[in-house]
Amino acid sequence: GSDDLGEKQVLTMATSADFPPFESYDTEGNFIGFDIELAELIADELDYELKIEDMNFDGLVGALQAGRVDMVMAGMSATENRRQNVDFSIEYNRSGEMFVTKEDAPVESLEDLEGKTV
Ligand code: ARG
Repeated sequence: GSDDLGEKQVLTMATSADFPPFESYDTEGNFIGFDIELAELIADELDYELKIEDMNFDGLVGALQAGRVDMVMAGMSATENRRQNVDFSIEYNRSGEMFVTKEDAPVESLEDLEGKTV
């Protein structure tokens, strides 16, 4: 659509819509999630039309490197290996990993986790 005068330029965002609450589909087949909303805000800010391409997570970095898409938003962690291949934005989410030992199970409430998370 970018050659038609008066039409907005397209910003193509690739994702792997299998990762709620960051990206998934609602029951009507629309994309939903944190990354989807953030992508819409970015496109709005740039005055571009947002196009979302759903693909396999493993294909995202390659699609970006090949220039088939403009950006990737997929809850993707900025690992050292990926950093060597693509440019990451600033971090906008950090997921803490946690574990519970067998001895501490079962966990029935948040209180049960106190002091056991990292
Ligand atoms: N944060 C993990 C990673 O970067 C998992 C991301 C999975 N994302 C997805 N859209 N399936 O490897």
